[in-house]
Formats: sequence, structure tokens, C-alpha cells
Amino acid sequence: MAIDERFLDELTNRLDMIDVVSRYVHLDKKSGRWWGCCPFHNEKTPSFTVDPDKKVFYCFGCREGGGLIAFVEKVEKLEFPDAVSLLARMAGMEVPTDEREQAAYRRRGRMLNLNREAARFFHENLTGDQAQPAKEYMAERRIAPRMVSRFGLGYAPDKWDALITAMANKGYDKADLLDAGLAVKNEKGRIYDRFRNRLIFPIIDVSGNVLAFGGRVLDDSKPKYLNSPESYVYHKSDNLFALNLAKNTTEPNYIIAEGYMDVLMLHQAGFTNAVASLGTALTEEQCDLLKKRTGEVILCYDSDEAGQRATERAIELLRARDVKIRILRMKGAKDPDEYIKKNGADAFRALLEESENSSAYRLEKIRAKYDLSDDDGKLAFLNEAVGLVSGFRSAIEIELFAGKLAETTGIRRETIETEIRKAQTRKRRQTERREMRETLRPAGIAEKPAGNLRYRNVRLAQAVEGVISLVAANPELLREAESSLADEAPGEEALIHIWKAVKKAIKAGTAVNPDLLSDLLSPDERKLLSGLLMKTPDGPPRETLGEYLAAVEMETAKAKARGGTTEDLTALLKLKKEQSRT
Ligand code: CTP
Ligand code: MN
Repeated sequence: MAIDERFLDELTNRLDMIDVVSRYVHLDKKSGRWWGCCPFHNEKTPSFTVDPDKKVFYCFGCREGGGLIAFVEKVEKLEFPDAVSLLARMAGMEVPTDEREQAAYRRRGRMLNLNREAARFFHENLTGDQAQPAKEYMAERRIAPRMVSRFGLGYAPDKWDALITAMANKGYDKADLLDAGLAVKNEKGRIYDRFRNRLIFPIIDVSGNVLAFGGRVLDDSKPKYLNSPESYVYHKSDNLFALNLAKNTTEPNYIIAEGYMDVLMLHQAGFTNAVASLGTALTEEQCDLLKKRTGEVILCYDSDEAGQRATERAIELLRARDVKIRILRMKGAKDPDEYIKKNGADAFRALLEESENSSAYRLEKIRAKYDLSDDDGKLAFLNEAVGLVSGFRSAIEIELFAGKLAETTGIRRETIETEIRKAQTRKRRQTERREMRETLRPAGIAEKPAGNLRYRNVRLAQAVEGVISLVAANPELLREAESSLADEAPGEEALIHIWKAVKKAIKAGTAVNPDLLSDLLSPDERKLLSGLLMKTPDGPPRETLGEYLAAVEMETAKAKARGGTTEDLTALLKLKKEQSRT
């Protein structure tokens, strides 16, 4: 009997890939990723990397890659089923051997699919006509429309059975909805929707699974929030709200707030490293999750007594794990949402930077290097100091330090501010140029894909690689990409296979995991896919996707103009293969 896919999914989800790989390779965390010397070829500087969220490894040196199971197969030189057994032992799980056990994994899969459908239903409702009260409420709370898709927000209609009816059409019955906590039963045995006339916040894990929902009333009635109960797939204490978004942060720290609204406002104001512990004090499990991802946490709980108690408790737990802690203090507002609305994002950023208070310290260090009584010294000091200050992200702080610099050097404040602005422009140009380069070479894999694979049209392949990387990381872009990139459009056979496999996985609601795609992809194709999963292009996903799709179109047109179309080439190759077989 083949091993159930859902079991494999659960197995790889249950294990921490960093823990497992670390048994064989020493890994260090650098810029949000784990690196080590590749166990599959000889090297002295690390080009082997692991992404624990995507559950893939990839070596930029020898182009070996795959999922967790493939890693164990290779490193232990085991056959697939034996690698699975070994991992199952590590996870304290048993490989399901009978129908009943397999059913348990299917139940998890079914519940996750139902949650995804429900999230889609709520979300589509929010963009429809009957959502007027929710839209008004969002406007009143100043939630920007772009947050609706970022957070997958939704609206539960003011009806007893809107979700029940919609899900029945998708093949889910009331028992499924009760199981998932989406419906409730009253004493009389009547079953109705749990969430009615509420703004819906889906709770999504780092693999993109919709685990649960929170729903806020649109007025002052009680209870303010309703949440999904614990279920087969949702364990409140194991999850942080918005970790699915915050995990992509390039900040060296995470901000922890109390509630849905705070995190939403923080993200809206540009603090995309914010997560929430959802009302409860931080739990041990949540601290473990954080410890795995960051060395520093900024606590940003409400300023009321409950918030302060929660802060104390969090400090205790995080200290025990050696996580650096900073505490952000707000005056004149009860929570970050209110603070940002009153004072703006810059003021909040100043609070963040103040809580670090390293700016003044760094400037003082520069000052100590120069003799300010001497004109040359003054100039050199100003040059370096302007470089530092122009990197501050809070406008308030920049203004503050421009004043200080004018005072220390006796140079006019306006002159210093002009210099700071020039330095900012230079920096911005530099990042723009860098981003441009990265956009053009998304995965940087096209030149030499994997194993024995070679591309015939590297430029087209690069663009297609970009599309695939983006869609795998942002499944919500699938529909858009799919309508422009037909099945055969990638040109190269390997990319055609990978494109189909990625689409299939997303539609089935499973993670894009090379370990689970062995029936669709050859070993080399799985390696290539691992590389693509590893390098997601920077930049706003939707716009970047547009650029790649345009590049695909352009390269395809160029190929046509050169003579044979890409389709012709593929057909020709197929023909040749068939001929050589007969
Ligand atoms: N909470 C809950 N049930 C409640 C009240 C609160 O589950 N009846 C949780 C929610 O996760 C909420 C968090 O506790 O986000 C913090 O509560 P609170 O500070 O009251 O909510 P805010 O997020 O500030 O919500 P709002 O600004 O909409 O009032
Ligand atoms: Mn609030």
C-alpha cells in the first residue's frame, strides 16, 4: 500500500526541518535562512541552505535539493519507505498501515480544505454587495482596502445558515462544519453558523493552512470577538496570528501585540514583523516558535493592567530561551492600533527605535573619532554622521538628529537636511538597482538548472522560473498566472512538468512540497523545484508577477520571430525522442 500523502504531509509538518538537518550538518542562521556546508559535495564555504517553512533544502553549489524526506534518503542512503520510517520514529508517529489510521490523516486534510473554502466564501462576501455594514465598519476603523487581500479578511453574512448552505454546495455537511467549529448546535439540536454579521480574520499557519477564524462584531455588542474553538487542526497555544506574513520579514526582530486589530494596523503602517498572541499571555509553544525565527522580540502589549501582566509573563518565558527583549511603552493610547491612528507610523517607529535607543549611542561613537575644532575633522564627521542618520527610518528621528548635528558643528541646519536628503536618494537608487538585478534573475538557476537538465531558451526559462517561484510562495496569484501561462507555455519540458505539478498541489490545498510530487516529477525536476522554492523574488508579488508574465510573452514572441516557436521546438524534440525509440 502506498503511504498516504496526508500522512507524509503531517509527518513533515510535525518535524522541525532544522532539528533534523542539524543532526548531519552544522547550520547557521543568516538573513532569515539557514546555511551550512553541503553534505553532498565537498566545500569549505556554505552554499547549502534550508528553509524550514517551505520544508526544502537546496545547494547552490551542487544543485542537489528536495524536501525533508529526500534529504534523509540521500544523507542516510535509504530507500523512500525506510527514510519515512526513520522520520516517523523521530516524530513519534507510526506509519499508517491500515485504513483506519489513514482515515485520520484524511480527516485533517478534509478539515483544512473546508477551512480554505470557508475563508474563500467569507472573503468573496466582503467584496460583494451584502457586505456594506462590514465595509462601513472597516472605513470607520480606517482599515485600508489592500489589507483585505493581505490578511484574507472576510465577512460572515447576517444569516443563520449562509456558510452551511455555501459549503453544502462544495460537498461538506453539517457534521463537517461542527467538527471544524464553523457551526454550533443549540440545546434544541438546531445547527447554525457560528460566525454571523462579523468581520472575519482567518488564522493561517506558516505553510498557508487556514487553521481557524476570529470574527469581530461591527458595533459595541458582546462578545466583541468570537473565535474558532480548538479543533483537530487548531491548537490555540501553538499559533501566532499573522506569523504567515511576518515570517517573510527582513527585520531582525518581531513585534508582539495582543490583538487582531493591532497587528493589522501595524502591518498597514509598514511594521510587517508584527504578530499577535491573540488575547492570551504568550505560551511556551509560542515562545518556541519565536525563538526559532528571531533573536529579538519587542513586546507591545496594551497599556492596561492585563497587558502589563502579560508583558511580565512574556519576559519570563523569553528570557528562559535567551531571546533578547525590548519593551515598547506607549503614552496616551491603550494599544498600537490607537497609537498609530493618533500619532502616525513615524511616531510609532520612533517609539520602536527609542526602545532600542542605540541611535544616539552610534552617533556619539562616530563623533568621538574626529577633532571637531578642525574644519577637515568637522567635514569628515559630518559625512559619516549624515550617512548614519539618512539610514534612520523615522522622519521624526531624522529631524531630531539634523538639529543635533547643526548644533555640534555650527553648520546651518538646512544645509545638513539637504545633505541627508541627498544621501537618502543615493541609498534608494542603490536598492532600486539591486532589486532590478534580482528581478531579472529570480532564481538564478536558469543557467544551470539541476542534474542533467539544460534549457534551450535561458531567457524564457528565467521568466517562467520567476512565475513559478512567485506562485508557489503566493498561491493566491495562481488564478492570474494560470490565465496567462498555459500548460505548455513554459517551453522547457522540465518547467512544463513543474508548472503543472505546482498548480495541482495548490488546487489540492497541499503545500508545494517536492517530497510529495514524486509521481509527477523526475528526481532532477524535484531538485530544480527545490531551488525555485528557495529563491522567491523580492518586490510586491502581484506587480512582480506582471513583470514576469510580460517577460514570458516577450521571450515567446522573440523565439517565434527567430523561426521555430517554442511549441514547435517541444514538438520537434518529442518527435525525435519517439523516432529514436522506434
Ligand atoms: N479577544 C477575544 N475575545 C474577546 C475579546 C478579546 O478573543 N471577547 C482576543 C482577540 O484576539 C483580541 C485580543 O484578545 O484581538 C485583544 O483584545 P482587545 O484588546 O479587546 O481587542 P483589540 O484587538 O484591540 O480589538 P478592537 O480594537 O477591535 O477593540
Ligand atoms: Mn483595540
